[in-house]
Amino acid sequence: MSANSVYLAYLVAAVLFILTLKGLSSPISSRRGNMFGMTGMAIAVLTTLSLTHNVTYILLAIAVGGTIGAIVARRIEMTAMPELVAAMHSLVGLAAVLVAMAAFNNPVAYGIALPGEPLHSSNRIELFIGTFVGAITFTGSIIAFGKLSGKLSGRPLRFAGQHWLNLLLGIVMLGFGAAFFMNPSWMPFLIMTAIALVLGVLLIMPIGGADMPVVVSMLNSYSGWAAAGIGFTLNNNMLIIAGSLVGSSGAILSYIMCKAMNRAFFNVILGGFGGEAAAEASGDGEQKTYRSGSADDAAFLMSNADSVIIVPGYGLAVARAQHAINEMSKVLSDKGVKVRYAIHPVAGRMPGHMNVLLAEAEVPYEQVVEMDEINNEFADTDVVLVIGANDVVNPAAKNDKSSPIYGMPILDVYKARTVLVVKRSMATGYAGLDNDLFYMDKTMMVFGDAKKVVEDIIKAID
Ligand code: TAP
Repeated sequence: MSANSVYLAYLVAAVLFILTLKGLSSPISSRRGNMFGMTGMAIAVLTTLSLTHNVTYILLAIAVGGTIGAIVARRIEMTAMPELVAAMHSLVGLAAVLVAMAAFNNPVAYGIALPGEPLHSSNRIELFIGTFVGAITFTGSIIAFGKLSGKLSGRPLRFAGQHWLNLLLGIVMLGFGAAFFMNPSWMPFLIMTAIALVLGVLLIMPIGGADMPVVVSMLNSYSGWAAAGIGFTLNNNMLIIAGSLVGSSGAILSYIMCKAMNRAFFNVILGGFGGEAAAEASGDGEQKTYRSGSADDAAFLMSNADSVIIVPGYGLAVARAQHAINEMSKVLSDKGVKVRYAIHPVAGRMPGHMNVLLAEAEVPYEQVVEMDEINNEFADTDVVLVIGANDVVNPAAKNDKSSPIYGMPILDVYKARTVLVVKRSMATGYAGLDNDLFYMDKTMMVFGDAKKVVEDIIKAID
């Protein structure tokens, strides 16, 4: 391919990547967005292959990697998606480090130096930044994977002087980076890489399980910047553009998630939420009373209502009750009940978790309403069915200043006339907090696995 055709193909792929992000911003256009993404990636990969003389190794690597990826992706449970994403980010980080090493080992072959000439100063900076961002991403993502998969404790691990140690290591790492810049040799390069690998572990260990999804999104952003760094090393515009898109969209997502959880971004990065909240919640031994009922009672209340709002949460995903809930909505709609779903931005365990589940069950998009739009409507709603959700409907976020989730926006379910809560017990949710909604006079608990309860409700309505 001529140089111009390559630039043109990369430009088309870059535009397709931007259209992908646009498409993914709504469930209605997300399939189209994914198609743009796959087409863009195919163009980018084929164009890059056309530039390579010996494609055998690359095709072999694509075949092996692609097979492993396809098998893992098919087997993975939806609830384990965040840990899979963390594991994949670690590979992007590792790739950035290895490419930087290979390029430094043979800069002429990578076209970043002429034979017998030293590395250009801008290439030294690119190699240095790409390597340390990649190394931090690599080990940080492994720790995030360990915490999310339960292989490592989700509790924040803290010790005195931790932040000072990280700062000191960061400064020493930059010092070796400067030494590499002045005199490019393996010694400062390897020491800098080793310190960045340790920093990745130290930065993520103090972060509690509750903040892990924000961390994954942040590591996603780092992996994008690491890829952009490799793009500079390899003089590949496509990689620079794709890496920057991943880097900036990951950073924006981290910000949005922090906002939805009412967490300051720097507090997340500096660590410490999750373990504490659970400890505080188990503190008061006060006995409170609640009302419980059966699936038949729930069916009676909902089939006699004018309007029902369903609030799905993490438990819906665990029980895989999305198809059953869609069936129940259809039965209620046929009886003339107005049914809608209220979506909290951090319900479940990953961004868009509920939207994905409901889309999988083919719930009509017009029934799915985001928090800001539906919050005004709870007061005029007859029945709200909270199914496997807890923290996202906890009124303590509004009225208890001492609560760790105080200030987090919630779905105003407590304003509805009647509230039904489907879960297996009175156990707490992710933040480990008791929920006053469950003890209100207007609330009826319906205990059981979400899918089983919904199936029983359907039978009772019919
Ligand atoms: P949670 O507060 O975690 O509550 C889920 C509830 O589901 C639990 O109380 C559990 O009660 C119930 N449950 C579990 N399995 C069930 C089953 N098979 N059938 C029925 N119920 C079941 O969930 P939420 O309201 O969706 O809130 C999400 C939480 O995760 C928030 O604290 C949020 O900040 C946090 N978080 C989310 C994200 C993203 S991006 N989504 C990111 C970071 C943190 P039982 O055990 O009694 O059944």
